[in-house]
Amino acid sequence: MKGLLLSGGKGTRMRPLTYTAAKQLLPVANKPVLFYAIETLLSAGITDIGIVVGETKGEIIKAVGNGSRWGINLTYIEQETPAGLAHAVKVSKHFLQEEPFIMFLGDNIIKEGVKSFVEEFEREKPDALVLLSPTKNPQRFGVAILEGGKITRLVEKPVPPPSNLALVGCYIFNKHIFSACEEIKPSKRGELEITDAIQWLIDRGYQVGYHIIKGWWKDTGMAEDLLEANRLILEEIEEEIEGEVDELTKIMGRVKIGKGSKIKNSVLRGPLIIGENCLIEDSYIGPFTSVGNDVKVKETELEHSIIMDECEIHLRERIEDSILGKGVIVRKVEKRPLSYKFVAGDRSILEVM
Ligand code: DAU
Repeated sequence: MKGLLLSGGKGTRMRPLTYTAAKQLLPVANKPVLFYAIETLLSAGITDIGIVVGETKGEIIKAVGNGSRWGINLTYIEQETPAGLAHAVKVSKHFLQEEPFIMFLGDNIIKEGVKSFVEEFEREKPDALVLLSPTKNPQRFGVAILEGGKITRLVEKPVPPPSNLALVGCYIFNKHIFSACEEIKPSKRGELEITDAIQWLIDRGYQVGYHIIKGWWKDTGMAEDLLEANRLILEEIEEEIEGEVDELTKIMGRVKIGKGSKIKNSVLRGPLIIGENCLIEDSYIGPFTSVGNDVKVKETELEHSIIMDECEIHLRERIEDSILGKGVIVRKVEKRPLSYKFVAGDRSILEVM
């Protein structure tokens, strides 16, 4: 079975972070979200993978390369405009050919993996198999209605939602999905929706099965979801200290510190991760915090946050529930006037006390 990873699209919901980076490359526990997707496919035995790329193609290729680090065969597939998930399937036809394939959205993380999902498809051989998960905010997703143990209807982002069962961003299809993607029309948001293509299959009597996932699943499409995914992944992190920790520093819980990082006179309370070549001085880093590479933190308290590479923080206060993009500087004003001074990009969010 081939894999199709979707990594195009615009990422408007993650601005300003996605003005400078593809949303699938945002880090969760210091690893790009897209890498979790690749590893999930790999652990289900999928090694022939096509990645759909759009305007952020250059960055994706730079980060993922030719796949040799995972020992997989990678093919990049260009989608000129992000015209929808069904459109992405259409442009991938030359790669997929007639074989069944698993499609995985590059901004989704599924904890339990997809091995049993792939096995179910191979055993039952339906025309399509979708993954569902009960969720608190189904109106943000595609939603499924089940009747008599079958899916009867799928609706994209319905208000009000007719059920709490969201379509998780992972699907398995056989070749009939191509006819469906050809026949459907763009939705209200102007996209060719995969949800509509699957409904097309249901309406014509094709077999569409479902599999309800038990573990957690995250669509990291919004800032709070990225923080929540970061928390969930850090819950399972294992202790590994490669950097230098001085005698004045106190470490509690599971902490991961990368090579070349120095921790001085600080308190680290895990689970947390600190990347390579960081300098943490006279600070407190609390649970569920990911600090990237080459970051400097001085006299600051950090908790439940994602701090990307090359940031510099010297605040003498506490930062929580925050995401700082690459190279952000946060510091206390030293000279009068003692006022807030911001250099913020478009759509930045600055919450002050
Ligand atoms: O996350 C699950 C949800 O994903 C499902 O519940 C919905 O039914 C499904 O439509 C999808 O909704 P989103 O609105 O969250 O999809 P989004 O536009 O964020 O795109 C998902 C991924 O696919 C993302 O990594 C970008 C990529 N993409 C998106 C479009 C529209 C492409 O590669 N090409 C595209 O044309």
